[in-house]
Amino acid sequence: MRLKTRLSPFLGLLAILSAAGSAAADAEPAVAGEVETILALGGDPAYGAYLAGECVTCHRASGGAGIPQIAGLPADYFVTALVEYRNGLRDNEVMVTTASRLGDAEIAALAAHFSSLD
Ligand code: HEC
Repeated sequence: MRLKTRLSPFLGLLAILSAAGSAAADAEPAVAGEVETILALGGDPAYGAYLAGECVTCHRASGGAGIPQIAGLPADYFVTALVEYRNGLRDNEVMVTTASRLGDAEIAALAAHFSSLD
């Protein structure tokens, strides 16, 4: 009984962490509404190209050590990834910081730009 009581905060945390983990694995319901809203905005690719200057210092056309290639990613995948970083469902520090500065219009524009590349 005593052991169970002491463990329960830990188990609660585990439950939260595993919920977040599985949410990030599939197209998680937690962010689906946000993703849909952003996709519905129909981003401006020219604005996206302008904003992309900040991204391509890391995300080179051919990718790089530990840095995925993002040119040509489908818009829905791209938006989902950024929304997951913005909500802390993906935990890469650089991308969480980057995404948390982006508003919906910026994410929509970046998705329009990068998805139009090869
Ligand atoms: C300082 C380097 C850096 C900058 C600047 C940067 N990124 Fe990233 N980005 C990364 C790294 C590293 C990852 C892989 C993180 C991980 O493992 O989750 C990543 C992952 C991503 C992903 C997920 C790719 C996938 O295949 O799931 C997207 C989308 C993305 N970045 C978009 C952007 C956009 C848009 C910008 C500009 C607003 C940007 N990044 C700026 C380093 C950077």
